[in-house]
Amino acid sequence: MGRAALYLHIISTAIIYSVSADDSRPNIVVIMADDLGWNDVGFHGSNQIPTPNIDALAYNGIILNRHYTLPTCTPSRAAFMTGKYPIRTGMQGRPLLCGEPRGLPLEETTLPQRLKDLGYITRLVGKWHLGCFRSEYTPTKRGFDSHFGYWNGYVDYFDYMIDQEDFIGYDLHRDMNVSWAENGQYATDVFTREAVRLISTHDTSRPLFLHVSHLAVHSGRDTQLLEVPNVEEALEKFNYIPDTQRRIFSEMTTRLDESVGQIVSALSDKGILNNTIIVFLTDNGGATIGELQNWGSNWPHRGMKFTLYEGGVKGVAIVWSNSLRNPGRVSMHMMHISDWYPTIYAMAGGEVTSLGKIDGINQWPTLLQDNSDIRRNGTLLNVGDFDDMEAIIDGKYKLIRSTLKNGVYDGFYGEDGRGSPNPPYNDTGVIISPVSKAIIALNVNSSAEEPQLKDKIRQIRLNATVDCKGRRRHYFGGPYCHSYCLFDLDDDPCETNNLISTYPNVTETLMKKLTQFKKEMVPELTKRLDRASNPHFFNNTWVCWLDDENVKKVPKTDDATGKINCTLSGSSTDLALAFCLLTSMLCVHVILSHF
Ligand SMILES: *[C@@H]1O[C@H](CO)[C@@H](O)[C@H](O)[C@H]1NC(C)=O
Ligand SMILES: *[C@@H]1O[C@H](CO)[C@@H](O)[C@H](O)[C@H]1NC(C)=O
Ligand SMILES: *[C@@H]1O[C@H](CO)[C@@H](O)[C@H](O)[C@H]1NC(C)=O
Ligand SMILES: *[C@@H]1O[C@H](CO)[C@@H](O)[C@H](O)[C@H]1NC(C)=O
Ligand SMILES: *[C@@H]1O[C@H](CO)[C@@H](O)[C@H](O)[C@H]1NC(C)=O
Ligand SMILES: *[C@@H]1O[C@H](CO)[C@@H](O)[C@H](O)[C@H]1NC(C)=O
Ligand SMILES: *[C@@H]1O[C@H](CO)[C@@H](O)[C@H](O)[C@H]1NC(C)=O
Ligand SMILES: *[C@@H]1O[C@H](CO)[C@@H](O)[C@H](O)[C@H]1NC(C)=O
Ligand SMILES: *[C@@H]1O[C@H](CO)[C@@H](O)[C@H](O)[C@H]1NC(C)=O
Repeated sequence: MGRAALYLHIISTAIIYSVSADDSRPNIVVIMADDLGWNDVGFHGSNQIPTPNIDALAYNGIILNRHYTLPTCTPSRAAFMTGKYPIRTGMQGRPLLCGEPRGLPLEETTLPQRLKDLGYITRLVGKWHLGCFRSEYTPTKRGFDSHFGYWNGYVDYFDYMIDQEDFIGYDLHRDMNVSWAENGQYATDVFTREAVRLISTHDTSRPLFLHVSHLAVHSGRDTQLLEVPNVEEALEKFNYIPDTQRRIFSEMTTRLDESVGQIVSALSDKGILNNTIIVFLTDNGGATIGELQNWGSNWPHRGMKFTLYEGGVKGVAIVWSNSLRNPGRVSMHMMHISDWYPTIYAMAGGEVTSLGKIDGINQWPTLLQDNSDIRRNGTLLNVGDFDDMEAIIDGKYKLIRSTLKNGVYDGFYGEDGRGSPNPPYNDTGVIISPVSKAIIALNVNSSAEEPQLKDKIRQIRLNATVDCKGRRRHYFGGPYCHSYCLFDLDDDPCETNNLISTYPNVTETLMKKLTQFKKEMVPELTKRLDRASNPHFFNNTWVCWLDDENVKKVPKTDDATGKINCTLSGSSTDLALAFCLLTSMLCVHVILSHF
């Protein structure tokens, strides 16, 4: 090594060393719930399911009350990971099926990759659902230093199995290995324990990005079977709720809430909470009825998961940091799930302009400083090649078309949770929750007394509660927006009053914007199921079946061409599926029943 080169080597080593030795960049923890409804948490006004930890995070942080997602998991997670509307990456269609040979395109630079480039340790616990047919699509090849969890859309809460028609396999992985040790243990607790372990063993010389992507509160593996460790206890604890399935759902939500408590406590115990930013959000609305029903409630909004009505896409979201100016507020600034990509990059100290052309907008300056900058005036909600729905928001107006399932998901469903027989809101429970305790410990000099705190909670909660202005209860049935509907979301957040003929000028403006997005859209990536994916060939586990070593394990048979075995069990839905696949059509059944 020449003298100059040696000198440079010493300098660059010194720079790297100085960054890592004195690293004040914040840790970032993103906790994502699956199919959690608007009204399944306490801070939006419901007394039905106590969520003291999540509520404490909300009251001490910012409640993001106009936070939009995509209506199902794969598209939402694609937007979160890339900062782009899914129409840019072909991920806008139905959620990825197990055994479908596709994934988030490899040319996309994911959020954890970006953070890794900034020196972060990046960890994923729980769900991925952005592709696994070849190893290069799995989390540890897409920017995560480690992953413990599942690759597909959901698994059983105890046995970690998932089936796609007659293909059934185990899906719990530690990086590329199948992990058997946790088989039989309750998933929410298993993922929480892993998150806590990663926090307590974290090497603090580097900042941490931890994405806890829970299975909760998705329905269990068998459609409409909800899973908790102790059913009898849950039924008793929530005996004031008439619907027994909703009682079990409440216990699933309680476990999720306790997970948030344990994660925040772990950050506190490690002494890094003060320098950690926490985001809590859902990937889409609750699945109140129908396919993969989980009894979640999006009250008082219209619609549910799968739809582009507010109930499907306006999701629970909170951000907390001890550095927020004027915390304990409800933000009505519009945010889209793609915004987290530049927002988190900015939190980490990255230069947002280096991210290239994305749809996400950096909201961090506005959130942190509580200024009135309007960073986003509108958002595309989605359009697709095959989907019979599309929607866009511009300012207070929303244009939507929806014929999905002939409108059966387009009404108002779920629990109000406010009046009797629900118990009164337990604000004491919030104040003594593990999350509150950890946050109070950071701010020992804060002088607020309990009555003041309770009054503040009451006010914030009132501000976070959506008011339908009495319209909702008069409203059953239509309009289903088979053609287009135009709603004024400021005046009518429950989407009851179609203004399409009142404001043809507004309609025209929004229609033009929507048409432009359609022109820019990349065709949906959807593929047939690949018979070679059958877990049967791989000790009944889901693997990256198109990796060379796995291709060898699949016997060559007459239909090894990639067609799946359509001789299914013979029920009418299976036959419908077989028909869809055989004719390569994406009918509603396929769209809805697999994700
Ligand atoms: C995966 O399994 C291999 C072989 O047993 C082992 O060496 C490796 O540490 C495992 N990886 C993880 C992340 O557990
Ligand atoms: C949003 O709309 C307001 C009012 O029309 C305008 O002043 C502002 O520049 C817009 N912001 C963006 C980011 O387009
Ligand atoms: C409120 O929550 C706390 C903590 O979970 C619990 O101990 C208390 O019994 C609850 N109070 C009521 C009235 O349910
Ligand atoms: C938390 O961080 C802030 C800003 O860096 C600092 O002023 C404060 O002293 C810290 N508090 C604790 C309890 O460490
Ligand atoms: C609390 O106040 C005391 C006295 O003003 C001060 O010395 C101490 O640093 C403060 N602690 C925190 C965590 O702000
Ligand atoms: C609630 O909203 C009102 C009206 O926008 C505002 O004046 C008040 O400060 C808010 N209160 C809290 C605690 O956010
Ligand atoms: C649409 O027309 C109404 C009156 O018919 C007018 O008040 C409104 O400002 C117009 N809006 C736009 C966006 O042009
Ligand atoms: C095959 O699966 C069983 C569980 O069904 C497991 O115990 C065993 O370790 C697996 N074998 C291999 C080689 O992974
Ligand atoms: C297709 O599935 C049927 C029913 O499960 C089974 O009997 C048949 O052997 C399968 N054929 C192939 C080629 O796997």
